[in-house]
Amino acid sequence: MERTFIMIKPDGVQRGLIGEIISRFEKKGFSLKALKLVNVDRPFAEKHYADLSAKPFFNGLVEYIISGPVVAMVWEGKGVVATGRKIIGATNPLASEPGTIRGDFAIDIGRNVIHGSDSVESATKEIALWFPEGIVSWQSSLHSWIYEENFSTC
Ligand code: GTP
Ligand code: MG
Repeated sequence: MERTFIMIKPDGVQRGLIGEIISRFEKKGFSLKALKLVNVDRPFAEKHYADLSAKPFFNGLVEYIISGPVVAMVWEGKGVVATGRKIIGATNPLASEPGTIRGDFAIDIGRNVIHGSDSVESATKEIALWFPEGIVSWQSSLHSWIYEENFSTC
C-alpha cells in the first residue's frame, strides 16, 4: 500500500493545528503508520530540502523548519501521495483552495504549515530519512469499510 511523509511545520505546531491536521487525514480514511514530535537540526533540514538548495529562499526555509518542533508522520492508503497533496493545497496559501489545509490556515508561502511528499519516490526517501527506526505495522479494523477491494497485498 502507498505511503507518504507528512510534516506539520513549526508554525502548524505553534498554532495548535496538530489535531486538526491529523483529523483531516484520519477522516479521509488514511491510516497513520508513524508519528513523532521532534526538533530537527540544520544539517537534517538541509538534507530534507536538498533538492531546493539552489533556491534563493533555501536559507530562510531551513531557518523556518529548525525554528521549533515539527510533527513527522507516515500516512498510508490508496493514492495517499497525490491525495495528500490535494488535502494540503497549493504551495502558496493565497492560491490554495478553501477547504485545503493551507487554504484554510495559512497566508504566506514561507509559513505554509505543512509538508507532504511530492511523489512516491520522494516519499520513500523521506520516510527512510525521518524514520530510520521503521514504522508501525498494523491494519485498521475499518479497512473493509473504506476499501471495496482488498488492498492488503498492494
Ligand atoms: P513542501 O511540502 O514543504 O515540500 O512544499 P511544496 O512541495 O508545496 O513546495 P516546494 O517543495 O517547492 O517548496 C518547499 C517549501 O519551500 C514550501 O512549502 C515553502 O515553505 C517554501 N517555498 C517554496 N517556494 C518559495 C518561495 O518562492 N518563497 C519562499 N519564501 N518560500 C518558498
Ligand atoms: Mg516539496
